[in-house]
Amino acid sequence: MVKLIGKHILLGVSGGIAAYKIPELIRGLRERGATVQVVMTDAAKYFITPLTLEIVSGSPVFNALLNYTSESEMPHIKLAKWADLIILAPATADLLARLSIGMANDLLTTICLAADAKIAVVPSMNQQMYRANITQKNIKILKEHNILVWGPDEGKQACGDFGPGRMLEPLSIIELAENSLSYKKDMLKLHLAITAGPTQEDIDPIRFITNHSSGKMGYSIAQAAAERGAEVTLISGPVNLSTPKGVKRINIISALDMYKQVHDIIHHQEIFIGCAAVADYRPKEVIKEKIKKHKDEINITFIKNIDIIASVAKLIKNRPYVVGFAAETQNIKINAQNKRIKKNLDLICANDISLINHGFNTENNALNLFWKDKEVYLSYSHKLVLSHRLLDEILKSYEKKNKY
Ligand code: C5P
Repeated sequence: MVKLIGKHILLGVSGGIAAYKIPELIRGLRERGATVQVVMTDAAKYFITPLTLEIVSGSPVFNALLNYTSESEMPHIKLAKWADLIILAPATADLLARLSIGMANDLLTTICLAADAKIAVVPSMNQQMYRANITQKNIKILKEHNILVWGPDEGKQACGDFGPGRMLEPLSIIELAENSLSYKKDMLKLHLAITAGPTQEDIDPIRFITNHSSGKMGYSIAQAAAERGAEVTLISGPVNLSTPKGVKRINIISALDMYKQVHDIIHHQEIFIGCAAVADYRPKEVIKEKIKKHKDEINITFIKNIDIIASVAKLIKNRPYVVGFAAETQNIKINAQNKRIKKNLDLICANDISLINHGFNTENNALNLFWKDKEVYLSYSHKLVLSHRLLDEILKSYEKKNKY
């Protein structure tokens, strides 16, 4: 509970409905030892009062850029230098847009420009506004400028829509703040290979079969491991995600490509995490010309793809610590443990995909971890938060295994 002791957190609040959750966030940050200073945009004051945030933060709330009386009081420079971490929550589409082009037209954006500290934005907006190409472009620019982007979550929105754009819950923001401030470089010198996304198996030059997989879990683990100093190689099927900072990405299409790329690098890896939704079967032959639609019925023979993770776990020389995933709908423990034993894995992480919003194509997940002699439940959270918790568990057991 005291991981943030002595840390200075500047909390920038902009005008989104999620601002009503900010007192809970401030309370949680302070309970863990942080000192919190709040800066509000003008629009934020329509959603929550400065007085409320002043009382919960125990410090005056700042808003005005230009009402100081002497140079020594310049609040933007003082606050920018004071902060160890700047969290912008909720961060509206407007705030993201202003930050992405380096505007400094209010106190908050001016502080962000003047600060040397890490900045994290926690987006909060309507799903269509979040999906808009221009917002996505702005987020990409922010990432390129080393601004952390936490979330968003997805689900029911205040306007009645459903989709991505909800602000992460306060507890998730606190966990991410702890991770980014603890300077925990506990994976330095470790090499991690992670498979992610689906594979595509060609039928003819036009068609293929594939699996549902957004790649988000694998990409989140890659991001978390890179943040902790690991050298990460992500062997990825076709997904619509940007490569996390500091991660080496190898793009593949089919299971055979993935197998080849994994085995090209596996001898230098301490840890292998198989997150990919590899197609179990591929057409025996890829038809050279497009299959025409004359017939009402066609038959395609499928043959089994090689099990990539099992082939890694079978290695005698330079076998890494091997972590697999299992998507289950029932008898989670028995099915996952059987899979772990069959594939000779050190750890299997089971998703209960029968639960709404767990697993495929979602921002959040919960995981049941099963080792030979231990099990741990990682509760429902944003995939980046969950990835850090998963890496904590992997590291503990990896270190224990290598000690004996
Ligand atoms: O057998 P199943 O597909 O349920 O196993 C899931 C686990 O095995 C995941 O870790 C997945 O990445 C891995 N896998 C693999 N190669 C395959 C099939 C699954 O690496 N051909």
